[in-house]
Amino acid sequence: MTHDLTTHFTGLRFVNPFILASAPPTESKRKILKAFESGWGGVVTKTIGLHPVENVAGPRTIFQRASEEKPYVSRNKRPDTVSHSSWNWELISDQPLDLWLPDLEEIKTTYPDRMLIASIMAGAGSAAEMENWRTLARACVAAGCDALELNMSCPHMDRKDMGAHIANDEDIIRAVLGAVTGAVDVPVWVKLTPSSSSLVDGARAAYAAGAAAISLCNTFPSLPLLDPETMKFEVEVDGLVTSGGLGGLAILHQALQRVSDISRAFPDKAISGIGGIRGFREAFNFIAHGAGTLQVCTAAMEEKGSGGIGVNLIQELTGDLGDYLQRKGHASIEEFRGIARDRIVEHSQIRRKSEVYNGGYAQSA
Ligand SMILES: Cc1cc2nc3c(=O)[nH]c(=O)nc-3n(C[C@H](O)[C@H](O)[C@H](O)COP(=O)(O)O)c2cc1C
Repeated sequence: MTHDLTTHFTGLRFVNPFILASAPPTESKRKILKAFESGWGGVVTKTIGLHPVENVAGPRTIFQRASEEKPYVSRNKRPDTVSHSSWNWELISDQPLDLWLPDLEEIKTTYPDRMLIASIMAGAGSAAEMENWRTLARACVAAGCDALELNMSCPHMDRKDMGAHIANDEDIIRAVLGAVTGAVDVPVWVKLTPSSSSLVDGARAAYAAGAAAISLCNTFPSLPLLDPETMKFEVEVDGLVTSGGLGGLAILHQALQRVSDISRAFPDKAISGIGGIRGFREAFNFIAHGAGTLQVCTAAMEEKGSGGIGVNLIQELTGDLGDYLQRKGHASIEEFRGIARDRIVEHSQIRRKSEVYNGGYAQSA
């Protein structure tokens, strides 16, 4: 008998807590239908917007691998390598809203018990941009989406009023949430950038303005590697490159730290954990730090032979979580969610070899 993995999150019922994150695995109706058929509990669509989208004239994503022999990280094909990370500079969906809407409707009608979350993104520089948030929100909800995820984390925008840039501005976070929550009546999740210098303040502003959950993390801003022999970047166009996003196993520890920061600051609030999940152990860690659902991108994209949506991965994740719950006698992930929270403390609270330590000061204040 398979273990019941039902998970309640932001008022929604998930058949299991595993969600495909907003990215290529959720870029089309075909892929999302296949993802639900394979067993994913939910999907966050590739981000939908209203502004022009034109991707770079080269590969949008590379997968980097590490090896033990002559250990270096590279996209170059070599024997005996293991996954290290994805690196991408892909923009949001280039499928226009009016083509997404019938697709969303069909997906929701075909899989009514699976959670369909629309990721949306607009600007913030004008009243017209605020109206764009409302237009996107209303349209996706009318098409049947169960929730929205506001993309305040896209690391690839030159526009200063969009994506990751706005996550540093609490007034903008409040204004966008005000616009969206005033327009629709579904849970609104906010995906913040992990590279913000004021993540906890941003999360506070978002929760206070009505965010049902914070989703963390998007990819980390980063550069691809330069090959010392060819002098080419591992991905470039005409010899040029710009900052892109690192995902996959390489960001796991940093993503956990961001989730822990939010979870300790707001223990009663919901978090959707993302970043480097490849299997149960990583998922477990996000739950232990307080995440109530788990989102996956790179590991699903890397799975061979299943169209990059993690057909085998979701079987493994649900199987391993079910086994764990059964073995430990837990009814659901709620029974161990957040258990790591109280064990993350200030540096000076960690026991020292000698008895007196004042956090680096000569004597206690
Ligand atoms: C090629 C690619 C495209 C992505 N596009 C989006 C996007 O449109 N919207 C978004 O919110 N996140 C996007 N992401 C970020 C992922 O949703 C996810 O947050 C990130 O990859 C970390 O998860 P992972 O370590 O499982 O890959 C993209 C990631 C990749 C690799």
